[in-house]
Amino acid sequence: MSERHLIGLTVNGAAHEALVEPRKTLIDALRHDLGLTGTHVGCEHGVCGACTVLVDGEPVRACLMFAVQAENCDIRTVESLDDDGELSDLQRAFRDHHGLQCGFCTPGFLMLAEGFLAQEPDADRDEIREAVSANLCRCTGYQTIVDAVADTAARRRSTSDTCPARTSAEKEATP
Ligand code: FES
Ligand code: FES
Repeated sequence: MSERHLIGLTVNGAAHEALVEPRKTLIDALRHDLGLTGTHVGCEHGVCGACTVLVDGEPVRACLMFAVQAENCDIRTVESLDDDGELSDLQRAFRDHHGLQCGFCTPGFLMLAEGFLAQEPDADRDEIREAVSANLCRCTGYQTIVDAVADTAARRRSTSDTCPARTSAEKEATP
């Protein structure tokens, strides 16, 4: 049996320690050592994207990364999306647009989209379609996933476009 290493992992803003073999994947450490089972495991060889998490803001297939490689990285899993028990805007959009059916792929798509929108907030529909093509969904046909991500992007843009200071100045200037 190979020697195990005590590593520190920062996951969803919390510090954790885990005693892992060098060959243990990040997905296995998240699910089995930290009990974060929201991230799913599909193919286990980098094809399906079900295991997608954010590592330092980048969508990463957690089945292709060793846990020891993630030490000192900032990791976010699907559990980080909820806001005090409430669904996030992205999760609500998936629900409202029927962006899931069986739901197996959904955690991976959510984290893929979360990472993508953080980097490309002005992405158009074609760019969103290209981005979500990285992951596999056997149920939805992708249209509703694209709808959900595009809707989230539009809502976030409209929120960030609303500048309270400018709005009140404009109101004062209006007779
Ligand atoms: S389980 Fe990681 S890509 Fe499929
Ligand atoms: S919703 Fe079933 S695999 Fe995507």
